[in-house]
Amino acid sequence: MKAKDYSSIVVLTGAGVSAESGLKTFRDSGGLWEGHRVEDVATPEAFERNPALVHEFYNMRRKQLLESATANAAHEALGHFEKHFTGAFNLVTQNVDNLHEQGGSRNIIHMHGELLKIRCNACERVQEWEIETDENSICPLCQNKGSLRPHIVWFGEIPLQMERIEQVLLSCDLFVSIGTSGNVYPAAGFVQLARSVGAHCVELNLEASQGALLFNEQIYGPATKVVSEFFDI
Ligand code: OAD
Repeated sequence: MKAKDYSSIVVLTGAGVSAESGLKTFRDSGGLWEGHRVEDVATPEAFERNPALVHEFYNMRRKQLLESATANAAHEALGHFEKHFTGAFNLVTQNVDNLHEQGGSRNIIHMHGELLKIRCNACERVQEWEIETDENSICPLCQNKGSLRPHIVWFGEIPLQMERIEQVLLSCDLFVSIGTSGNVYPAAGFVQLARSVGAHCVELNLEASQGALLFNEQIYGPATKVVSEFFDI
């Protein structure tokens, strides 16, 4: 069966779908992420200990995204498919970039947050953000100083919109996991939830992930190729 023959599709993406856009994946560089240990830049404790370093790290990520990354053929294939598919389509991404939006996808859940948004710890509001922040930045909404933080889910924090994600997984008949190593929960467990309701589960990745055997079907290759072929409509 082709993807378009199903009626309710959930797609989960990870760093691999953006790799060919020039954004580094997490687990292919000796445990370092852009030269940093994850514990130094992606935990609430790191932000408390050294907010300047964490702000600087996400300033760099944001700048890199805005200046040099554009959607690739895999993002575009997913956007095109969603536009023409007549059934239910939900894209859940672990990525914090905006390349799915650039590729034309609309129904996107960013479970690990978004690089181009900022959150205020004082007024708790989230807003679009493209410029640098530091530990003295002022929230434009509540004027509080020093309370802005990246709108990113750090290790030890709960991913966003989990209820909605579970809801769509429990009613899908096709689940496709793209470009994720299956190392990080709860996303790594989505395949089991989809299987529990009898959905057909497919892995599209460069290589077998941790949970590869939980899928009914596996197709290996670069995302620009395998995603474009699988989501042809
Ligand atoms: P990983 O870096 O763990 O895995 C990326 C996967 O993409 C690997 O299985 C690669 O083989 C595959 N890959 C690489 N290049 C590819 C290509 N061109 N086409 C297809 N696949 C390719 O990234 P994630 O699984 O996304 O969390 O990591 C999950 C989470 O761990 C991230 O969201 C992040 C990280 O810590 C947070 O920041 C909370």
